[in-house]
Amino acid sequence: MAAETRVAYVSGEFRPETEATVSVYDLGVLYGQMVFEFSRTFGLKPFRMEHHLIRLFASMKYSGIDCGMTMEEMNDATNETLERNKHLLADGDDYGIWHNVSAGPMEFQAEASRDGFGPTVIISVWPISLTKPVQWKLYDTGINAIITAQRSVPARLIDPKVKNRSRMHYRMADLQAAKVREGAWALLTDEDGFITEGSGANFMIVRDGELVSPEPRNTLRGVTRGAIIELAESQGIPFVEDNIDAYDVYNAAEAFYCSTSFAIMPVITVDGHQLSDAVPGPVTQRLTDAFADDAGIDFVAQAKRLHGIA
Ligand SMILES: Cc1ncc(COP(=O)(O)O)c(C=O)c1O
Repeated sequence: MAAETRVAYVSGEFRPETEATVSVYDLGVLYGQMVFEFSRTFGLKPFRMEHHLIRLFASMKYSGIDCGMTMEEMNDATNETLERNKHLLADGDDYGIWHNVSAGPMEFQAEASRDGFGPTVIISVWPISLTKPVQWKLYDTGINAIITAQRSVPARLIDPKVKNRSRMHYRMADLQAAKVREGAWALLTDEDGFITEGSGANFMIVRDGELVSPEPRNTLRGVTRGAIIELAESQGIPFVEDNIDAYDVYNAAEAFYCSTSFAIMPVITVDGHQLSDAVPGPVTQRLTDAFADDAGIDFVAQAKRLHGIA
């Protein structure tokens, strides 16, 4: 008998993920016109889901996509997706949750699409331990970051606050970083050379005991970043937003990327310049501990346990 597969929510129905499909004429497929969210659970409880759904609905509003659901309905469908899949998760693991939304196929192509005309709303779950499996050892070793020639898309063109699927520039940045150093993570800049973010994460440095985030005009306003800013405040760690450049980053005491799947991941070098001796540095460690307290789970220990990292 075939193994039971996870189910995904696709525009009002639950289907086995192996059979969950979208139309070949979906505007997300044809033109990359799709908005999305990636959230996760800690101890199987969704983390800051409200923040993710607010951002999803803001992204839809910006791009004129009507998903035909209220935020409450989206939340209910998310909880139901989790509920229907939780028995398939390995002990001690958690789920990453994808929301992908497009306007669906164009009206004149509806008859060629199984679900006809109307928005495509996909909610699917994926074990967090299987999300970018190579990344988990980096809690101990730190990330080698490379500032790429590839720039961020400026807000005056397509606002990066919109979490959208037109992500070719992130791929180019990843390819460039990998050519310079195997396994390196991309760090992008804006048109003026100020640091923006990574290809799937925000970025922060520690300078003179202060936590510094790139001025976020040309970045996604990460939910993890938001949580870290609140934690810094409660920990008495001063926080500022500033235009920072390569000079500031090379001379930083500490740096880290932050994003939903891994929360906080320390950086050891940027363009070959070593930042701190210890990984993670002391402020990064304090924020990691505070984040784990807030999430109710030691996510670093969890990731190491699931990947057999001592
Ligand atoms: C470009 C970019 N920046 C930042 C983030 C971090 O956002 P969040 O903390 O909401 O996961 C992501 C997450 O995927 C991203 O793709």
